[in-house]
Amino acid sequence: MEMNIALLPGDGIGPEVVDQAVKVVKAIGEKFGHQITFETALTGAAAIEAVGVPYPDETHEVCLRSDAVLFGAIGDPKYDNDPSAKVRPEQGLLLMRKKLGLFCNVRPTFTFPSLVDKSPLKRERIEGTDLVFLRELTGGIYFGEPRGRSEQGDRAFDTCVYNVYEIERLARMGFEFAQKRRKLLTCVDKANVLATSRLWRETVQRLAPEYPDVKVEYEFVDAVAMRLIQWPKAYDVLITENLFGDILTDEASVISGSMGLMPSASLGSDTKLFEPIHGSYPQAAGKDIANPLATVLSAAMMFEYAFDLQEEADAISAAVNRSLEEGIVTEDLAGDGGKAYKTSEVGDWLVKQIMS
Ligand code: IPM
Ligand code: MN
Repeated sequence: MEMNIALLPGDGIGPEVVDQAVKVVKAIGEKFGHQITFETALTGAAAIEAVGVPYPDETHEVCLRSDAVLFGAIGDPKYDNDPSAKVRPEQGLLLMRKKLGLFCNVRPTFTFPSLVDKSPLKRERIEGTDLVFLRELTGGIYFGEPRGRSEQGDRAFDTCVYNVYEIERLARMGFEFAQKRRKLLTCVDKANVLATSRLWRETVQRLAPEYPDVKVEYEFVDAVAMRLIQWPKAYDVLITENLFGDILTDEASVISGSMGLMPSASLGSDTKLFEPIHGSYPQAAGKDIANPLATVLSAAMMFEYAFDLQEEADAISAAVNRSLEEGIVTEDLAGDGGKAYKTSEVGDWLVKQIMS
């Protein structure tokens, strides 16, 4: 197959983790006989420095003409520490999601057998967890208007808005995912307080009869925050709005053992995008110590979701599993006394595994 992949390394550790994923993708291309070309473009603080905006039109063009986008991370402390900054790197990520129509962010949570004892949660609670969040990605409080400050600057406001069509398209994806899995769908909301949540619940209730094989549960977000780490095996597919999904998926990463392991796929109307759920981890940037596995696993999701190539995706996951079993891991997973490998060494090791 011919594949043209857009690479948006972004900020912080983004470039170095994307480098490892590219090595792995090239190895897969060689092994399975695919012609893969890459085109790199600017996003985030790196784009602001170069051209003044965090998601340049040129970058959008590159994404549109590609078959899939592999994204690193966005964010820079320079902007985090300056709340008055008018242009922020994160705006680039949000604009990119919006302009590419990526309304559904798929964030799976599963455990790696070799890491179960590294989680602060008890083995019997988490072993065998296999759930997936579908986080709505282009609506809600992240995008709602009005937003801003009062003239005096002593009041700030954000607006959470959802239209039925935005909820419906995400919910339908949730039902379809559930049908292919264990047929349990949990609608996560705060319908006891928020009008938007009541619209979510109403919409999901209206659609449910169309999917009689799927059992639907409705649960408040605060309860899910608790039950998710108490008994994660109770869940299969969870659908939720943008901000709740952002928060709960960081929490869910504790089940897997590290933020550095969690991949995601963003799906919608145009080109699909694949990105780790972690941020730009500026403290580690350029040090060759960041965990590349979340990005490598995002590349595995790319083969599965963008190209429908399950064998290629499985080959990547298998190599990652072996690296974890054999302790070829970066410092976040090495633990006391364990050897910490460099980011690039982990990438090279994965390539060797795939080619062997
Ligand atoms: C994520 C990130 C982003 C988000 C930030 C960087 C804007 O935390 O992808 O989860 O909040 O969506
Ligand atoms: Mn987040």
